[in-house]
Amino acid sequence: MTTIVELRGIGKSYQTTPVVHALQPVDLTIEAGDWLAVVGPSGSGKSTLLNLLGLLDRPTQGRYVFAGVDVSTLGERERTALRGRRIGFVFQQFHLLPHRTAVENVALALLYTTPSAGQRTTAAVQALRRVGLGHRLHALPSTMSGGERQRVAIARALVGAPDLVLCDEPTGNLDSANAHAVLDVLNDLNADGVTLIVITHDPDVAARARSRVHIRDGSVTSADPRSAPSATTAKAPA
Ligand SMILES: Nc1ncnc2c1ncn2[C@@H]1O[C@H](COP(=O)(O)OP(=O)(O)OP(=O)(O)O)[C@@H](O)[C@H]1O
Ligand SMILES: [Mg+2]
Repeated sequence: MTTIVELRGIGKSYQTTPVVHALQPVDLTIEAGDWLAVVGPSGSGKSTLLNLLGLLDRPTQGRYVFAGVDVSTLGERERTALRGRRIGFVFQQFHLLPHRTAVENVALALLYTTPSAGQRTTAAVQALRRVGLGHRLHALPSTMSGGERQRVAIARALVGAPDLVLCDEPTGNLDSANAHAVLDVLNDLNADGVTLIVITHDPDVAARARSRVHIRDGSVTSADPRSAPSATTAKAPA
């Protein structure tokens, strides 16, 4: 088993007035191949947790070991490099470039890691085929359905072969048919070994994951019968 994520007592307070304790100290372990859903109501700390996991923000306490690297010790540059090479992101609002085709949007994710434009395009085509969009390679986002756009965003997250794909409300902007198509893609990817963490307030989305943790008022509590419940500790089962 390869451990991808190891959080030990990771917490986050925003130094606003008054201070917001957005995430109480949490322990969390995620192994390669896991699919963990983090579910909780609005304002409970889900995006705060995702931003910490994705090296987009720093915790105010605790230790984070990502893929064997203690990231607390890294400078901003090294964190950015690690994030770019090893973590893929999928957000609620797709964030596609409107005047670029699907294949261009995906290929752009490799701009800083793959010097050859031909290789970038080949990898982008493969990633789009993987999410079932081999027939929409040259479509512009404005001509695609919400579910198709989100699948382009998933292909973009995948194309660099990351160790971890983080999704923040990936179906939040989709109707139920499109949401199902996106969840089917996530299911296939996980079956192929892609490690997923999906943040959601939707219990139906959470139900598709292999394991779940609940977050409420910044406290993560285990909701999965296979892991030991505790007020501040959640452990994703292997
Ligand atoms: N940059 C910030 N500065 C101050 N407080 C913040 C900041 N970001 C988030 N918060 C606060 O931290 C808490 C957790 O916010 P977070 O965005 O993590 O919630 P969430 O679970 O993702 O909610 P939603 O489901 O609405 O996206 C909230 O009380 C929020 O107001
Ligand atoms: Mg959020």
